[in-house]
Amino acid sequence: MLIVQLACPKCGFVIEQYRADQLETDAQKQKRYQYLRKKQTLCPSCLTQTSKLEERRVEVEAAPEAELLAEGPSEAAPVGEGPTATPLCDELERGPWPSHVTELKQTRYHLQMYEEGLRQKKTQWGFGGYTSIPGVASGILMRASARPDIAKGANLVRAFCPSGTFYSTKTLRALCDVADRHGYGILHLHATTCDIEVLGVPKEELRATVDELVAAGLDVGSTGDAYRNCQECIGPLRCEMVLVDSVAMRQAYFTRFLDDVQYPRFPHKIKFKLSGCPNDCTRSQQKGDLAIVGVFRDPPTINEARLDGWVRNGGDMAHIARMCPTRAMEWDGRRLTIDAEACVRCMYCINKCPAIRPGGDRGVAVLAGGKMRGKYGPLQPVVIAPFVPAIPPDFKEVFDLCAKITDVYDEHARRKERLGDFIYRTGIDEFCRLVGVPATAQQMTAPRVNPFYHWTPEELQASRKEGE
Ligand code: HEM
Ligand code: SF4
Ligand code: SF4
Repeated sequence: MLIVQLACPKCGFVIEQYRADQLETDAQKQKRYQYLRKKQTLCPSCLTQTSKLEERRVEVEAAPEAELLAEGPSEAAPVGEGPTATPLCDELERGPWPSHVTELKQTRYHLQMYEEGLRQKKTQWGFGGYTSIPGVASGILMRASARPDIAKGANLVRAFCPSGTFYSTKTLRALCDVADRHGYGILHLHATTCDIEVLGVPKEELRATVDELVAAGLDVGSTGDAYRNCQECIGPLRCEMVLVDSVAMRQAYFTRFLDDVQYPRFPHKIKFKLSGCPNDCTRSQQKGDLAIVGVFRDPPTINEARLDGWVRNGGDMAHIARMCPTRAMEWDGRRLTIDAEACVRCMYCINKCPAIRPGGDRGVAVLAGGKMRGKYGPLQPVVIAPFVPAIPPDFKEVFDLCAKITDVYDEHARRKERLGDFIYRTGIDEFCRLVGVPATAQQMTAPRVNPFYHWTPEELQASRKEGE
């Protein structure tokens, strides 16, 4: 397939690309292409202003056509008998580590597809799109196959894991039964966003699979341009750092937004991630279009007695004070002080020393626009609101703001434009105006030495007075 690209003449960043055949027939695409070619453009990669984009023509391999899996999965591969036809896969079974190939061989997965991928050094699976069946608008994906002679393609049904990723053994058994009855006999658990995926479901068994998952107490969804499954950190269930109840917040998310998770209606997908503290174990800021991160506003607390004991046992406080990113700590060998104004609440000292704990006045920061793919590539999110009270059980303030952000996105973004790209295009000040949040210094995106924020004591006092 021939692709026509318009790229920055200086750094080669591809600003726009079209399929050559579409460019020939689609008048709108032609118009835009002609316009862009002559337009003054600021390259988002090297920030050069250019009046003439470079045109390139590249040949790429066409994506295989999507096709619903018409036939059931193949028979189970014979285990451990006779010569096998998968020498490269067999190689991956060697060594002491549990092997994924050993697991796959016990199922009805088409191992030849993987073998072929290893042989060609290129996966034989491709994106096949999403599909729906009556009543299930979201939750079914198709994988396309480059080798229909081995496997025609595979459908995959996606369900949400229970919050905290805790399962009763009963639910887990029910899940196994569904995967055995309708799929390859594989469960892909907690795929990149905490989803349960039942692989290899034939077209005519999709309905039964969904029904049985629902009967097991789970629910199906999280594909397409919808709110996606929401990933949270283990937080209050196991972690000592937790500032807000991330697991309860996920529960509240589904209670409020289940319709938006199951019915795609946005310009593009919206991934939600929740972390209980700025350590951000879910990498919410890199992975979530919307990231909600537990924060504290009072300075870190110091337990003098515990600190003494810790130092006597060999703790190196001088090193920690030296490594504080804003040099907010002073350690004279016996006494530790933290300059509340300089401290950006980054958690470094708290993670290192058990005598220092997060301060009080806790809530969440709401950030938007983090992502990997999309027009402008990987983006860090911007802080939309540096502090929002997180009040269980429904976390109304937090989710009201999220709903406002996605309403603005829904109304103003272009089709297939990720939230981060939309904010980049409109600018953070215009975006905040649309959402109706005041501009604050904490939203600053550059120059910035770290992803945290901080307040002066006066600002803190003023904002608390406002809240009262
Ligand atoms: C022959 C006439 C026109 C052509 C070929 C044309 C073409 C375009 C193109 C290619 C864009 C996309 C620009 C980009 O993404 O950077 C655009 C955007 C836009 N055009 Fe036009 N346009 C025309 C007439 C008009 C007229 C008459 C108006 C208003 C009365 C208008 C208002 C806009 C606006 C507001 C945008 C920005 C939309 C956005 O950013 O989402 N255009 N136009
Ligand atoms: S993000 Fe914070 S609260 Fe959540 S698991 Fe990590 S350290 Fe614990
Ligand atoms: S939380 Fe971070 S910025 Fe604040 S004192 Fe500790 S290391 Fe320094």
